[in-house]
Amino acid sequence: MTTSRRHYHITTFGCQMNKADSERMAGILEDMGFEWSEDPNQADVILYNTCTIRDNAEQKVYSYLGRQAKRKHEQPDLTLIVAGCVAQQEGEALLRRVPELDLVMGPQHANRLQDLLQQVFDGNQVVATEPIHIIEDITKPRRDSKVTAWVNVIYGCNERCTYCVVPNVRGVEQSRTPEAIRAEMEELGRQGYKEVTLLGQNIDAYGRDLPGVTPEGRHQHTLTDLLYYVHDVPGVERIRFATSHPRYFTERLIRACAELPKVCEHFHIPFQSGDNEVLKRMARGYTHEKYRRIINTIREYMPDAAISADAIVGFPGETEEQFENTLKLVEDIGFDQLNTAAYSPRPGTPAAVWDNQLSEEVKSDRLQRLNHLVATIAAERSQRYMGRTEEVLVEDQNPKDKTQVMGRTRTNRLTFFTGDINELKGKLVKVRISEVRAFSLTGEPVEVREVVSV
Ligand code: SAH
Ligand code: SF4
Ligand code: F3S
Repeated sequence: MTTSRRHYHITTFGCQMNKADSERMAGILEDMGFEWSEDPNQADVILYNTCTIRDNAEQKVYSYLGRQAKRKHEQPDLTLIVAGCVAQQEGEALLRRVPELDLVMGPQHANRLQDLLQQVFDGNQVVATEPIHIIEDITKPRRDSKVTAWVNVIYGCNERCTYCVVPNVRGVEQSRTPEAIRAEMEELGRQGYKEVTLLGQNIDAYGRDLPGVTPEGRHQHTLTDLLYYVHDVPGVERIRFATSHPRYFTERLIRACAELPKVCEHFHIPFQSGDNEVLKRMARGYTHEKYRRIINTIREYMPDAAISADAIVGFPGETEEQFENTLKLVEDIGFDQLNTAAYSPRPGTPAAVWDNQLSEEVKSDRLQRLNHLVATIAAERSQRYMGRTEEVLVEDQNPKDKTQVMGRTRTNRLTFFTGDINELKGKLVKVRISEVRAFSLTGEPVEVREVVSV
């Protein structure tokens, strides 16, 4: 006798926060007895974890959803879920647009998936978008990797950048306690994970909402304190954190990163624009001079540190000269990587209704010019690796060449070398770099470090 197990499928759009939420929701579904299906068409429960940061991200969701909504007419017991930021942004309006949906749930409700699904199985159409205090999840996430893992440390965002939907969809900042974070990392260490990336929209704002101040009047729980607190977790060999906001990036934090050997020399600190007037209208709360000072300080402490960032071109009213200030900043800093985007007006944000919007032509022209510069500079930055020996944490096989494995340097450069994934997965390998490209490297293994977990 065979009882066919019920299957689920999740497609994730957007940032690492969504990826981490998806892993937790997958954990919940597996706890409920569902099995993963790579193919959405074979699944009984389909969950789209969505992103609304730019219009094209949102439109992609509707096209995926349209296809599955059609399928539901032939297979009425199919359960369709929209989670994440589009769900939060649209709420009930999503049900009017796609009446086939069973569940619309905002990101703050990710850990409540089991409860919400129960209501659906009881015959209800459910919308969960009210702001709540995020409850600690007792389910084990189903993590995509066995080597590297994400650990949320702060949810939400208290900034009000004038272009950005995140505060509307992710709610106010909620920091997890240092104890809960450490406990999760210890469990990861026991399971053999070697690298942890601490996650938050503005991770360096961590702890502002937790009780306690020091005698000098600063918050007792900061990202810096957290790094010291979790640094000796056994088994975890590397610690990263993202995303950092220039407003909260302190010298104390930089010193901690230099001092703590497990913290990797890679910093993702979006600057958005290289022009002070634009920064002001974006309500970013810093100047390009301050941004440059932060990078200089990082490089004083860690000369080889890799710097990456996000930038927006074509913000309302941005002049050619102001755009050139962004180019200038990019050139002066020499980023290892830069995520670039053309400004996209988002519903419910102040800048969307300003009357000085730029044309799509201007925006895409600027985006192309910036991307071209970024590729040139990243290629130059890559040159410094030529002939050097770098420590690479092996994550996977190279999907394009099965004789190779791939991993990342401490500075987050993707690196390929010849080797057997079964032997090398999760190992720290010294690799001599023999080939450099703008965003990746190739080399030969020199030595495999045996990590003894204590
Ligand atoms: N909290 C982070 C970034 C979060 S959103 C920070 O403050 O830096 C990720 C990136 O999306 C942003 O850094 C920004 O570059 C981009 N972005 C956000 N809103 C956008 C919009 N309306 N149009 C284009 N890009 C946008
Ligand atoms: Fe958006 Fe600004 Fe918050 Fe970043 S800091 S998530 S850009 S509002
Ligand atoms: Fe997108 Fe939501 Fe992340 S809007 S970028 S998935 S916080």
